[in-house]
Amino acid sequence: MSKILVTGAAGFIGSNFVRYLLRERPDVRVIALDALTYAGNLESLSDCSCDPRFRFVRGDICDAGVVAPVFREHLDAVVNFAAESHVDRSIMGAQEFVRTNFVGVQVLLDLAREHAVGRFLQVSTDEVYGSLGPTGKFTENTPIAPSSPYSASKAAADLLVHAYRTTFGLPTLITRCSNNYGPFQFPEKLIPLFVTNLLAGQKVPLYGDGLNVRDWIHVQDHCEAILAVLDRGKPGGVYNIGGESELPNIEIARRILHYLGHDDSMIEYVKDRPGHDRRYAMDITRIGDDLGWQPRIDSQEGIIETIDWYVANENWWRRIKTGEYLTYYDKQYGPGGVVGVEE
Ligand code: NAD
Ligand code: TYD
Repeated sequence: MSKILVTGAAGFIGSNFVRYLLRERPDVRVIALDALTYAGNLESLSDCSCDPRFRFVRGDICDAGVVAPVFREHLDAVVNFAAESHVDRSIMGAQEFVRTNFVGVQVLLDLAREHAVGRFLQVSTDEVYGSLGPTGKFTENTPIAPSSPYSASKAAADLLVHAYRTTFGLPTLITRCSNNYGPFQFPEKLIPLFVTNLLAGQKVPLYGDGLNVRDWIHVQDHCEAILAVLDRGKPGGVYNIGGESELPNIEIARRILHYLGHDDSMIEYVKDRPGHDRRYAMDITRIGDDLGWQPRIDSQEGIIETIDWYVANENWWRRIKTGEYLTYYDKQYGPGGVVGVEE
């Protein structure tokens, strides 16, 4: 039986990963740790909570006093999803981004070292590479050149992970993935924001000329890639992950509008994001050749399926839009504090 700490487990990708891990690995025990910031939502893990192999701990990765008892439980691996993740919020204020995305990673790395954790996987992003022109793709050797405070904080963490590998021989792994979509994504990101706005009868705000390109991947494919890297990745390795599905934002907007029975009149062109990266595209040769992973979900079908999920799960996103979800934890466990640590 292996024991895996998943941090940031109540967020979008973390909650999908926990669910996938429990389904895929009958012999796994998962400790799901999350600070439950505005982006963390225990309702995204409600179907895991009765599984005896699952335990939730509320905690901030920057707080060694809270996280250390979890590391004393003899972990086999750590997968770190915990982060401030929204570029626009990082432009409004970078402090929380540097704190969680950099200092938090340092706290986890020190604990992983102290407790000789077998694998430490840092979930990073394609955004650390900066912006592409109309051609070419990011490889793992592309220089790090982040544009936003968010991507700079993620890049800083990648450098720290690399340093712990080089200096202390920590068995680290870094994955850099492109834009995810799928169920349980917080409705501030492009796809869930546009879908939920339209379902609520509101227009969709498209930045600039709408021609910025992202490489879209279904969160399920991302989770499968992370598990492949965790299982078989080379210690010290960096792995790009992408969906091989480049789409300009206007195309995503039109697919959503069309599927929900609207036309372009529901698009509101708004002022561009400062420092807005023009194009991301991932070269995924390494993970394909070394680990045999390929994305499986076609974005045409995956995006439609995701829209259907938001239509069917209005209760989940409405409670976010009203802020009601923030009280879920307190109702279940009482205000504040840490639960579920086995001393
Ligand atoms: P998210 O914002 O949905 O979830 C982040 C989670 O981290 C939340 O549950 C939040 O409560 C938790 N958290 C924040 N600060 C914390 C702290 N100090 N201590 C403990 N928990 C804390 O983000 P996401 O989209 O699920 O992204 C997860 C990871 O994947 C991030 O590291 C992000 O950089 C990376 N990533 C995301 C994408 C994407 O398209 N969403 C793409 C590539 C990489
Ligand atoms: P986002 O989901 O914030 O992801 P990221 O910035 O990490 O790629 O944005 C995806 C793209 O959509 C990006 O080019 C910015 C654009 N965008 C809009 O046009 N309008 C919006 O309201 C949002 C949130 C994003």
